[in-house]
Amino acid sequence: MAVLETVVIAFWAMIPAYVPNNAAVLGGGGQPIDGGRTMGDSRLLGDGKTWRGTAAGIAAGLVLAGVLTVLAEDVSDVLGFAVPEFAPLAAVGLAAGAMLGDILASFLKRRTGRQRGAMFPGLDQLDFVVVSLPLTALLAPDWFREWFSPAVILVIVVLTPVLHVTTNMIAYKLGLKNEPW
Ligand code: CTP
Ligand code: MG
Repeated sequence: MAVLETVVIAFWAMIPAYVPNNAAVLGGGGQPIDGGRTMGDSRLLGDGKTWRGTAAGIAAGLVLAGVLTVLAEDVSDVLGFAVPEFAPLAAVGLAAGAMLGDILASFLKRRTGRQRGAMFPGLDQLDFVVVSLPLTALLAPDWFREWFSPAVILVIVVLTPVLHVTTNMIAYKLGLKNEPW
């Protein structure tokens, strides 16, 4: 498989997992998921993880998966190789997995004494991959095997931190995010 093809498939397949984090920033606010509860000296998750942001993130990921599925055939024709259509459960695994990974990361941040917004290099960039890939493999195993080859997974692990740093820097510059990570 050509390198460019692998990169395009990796990026396309991960869009429903990439978008939720950014949509959560735009749609966030309101009731925190942990309802203000604490564990030990710090919040369970913190005010940065809200029901509204999570719902907005998952919804955005699902909508994107739907749009890409509609476009997949035409895009594949133009590119000369196939890009994935999203099985419904694959879309759920990617979008919900991304939000779940982000929530899990906040849980770990609070347990390690990091305040809301504190950075956690590595975790910040890959939290959603770590959960969305296994969840998708679990919910849509055939779809996962068809599209997530070892080469595609390798590209995702390398590409995601770069994309994450770039988009967060842009969101920070635009004043949408409080920190550039
Ligand atoms: N957000 C949300 N719900 C989520 C994820 C994000 O409402 N499930 C919103 C919050 O307004 C949050 C912002 O998006 O402040 C940025 O997200 P993130 O960087 O993940 O949260 P932080 O505020 O940095 O908090 P944490 O330290 O827990 O990551
Ligand atoms: Mg943050």
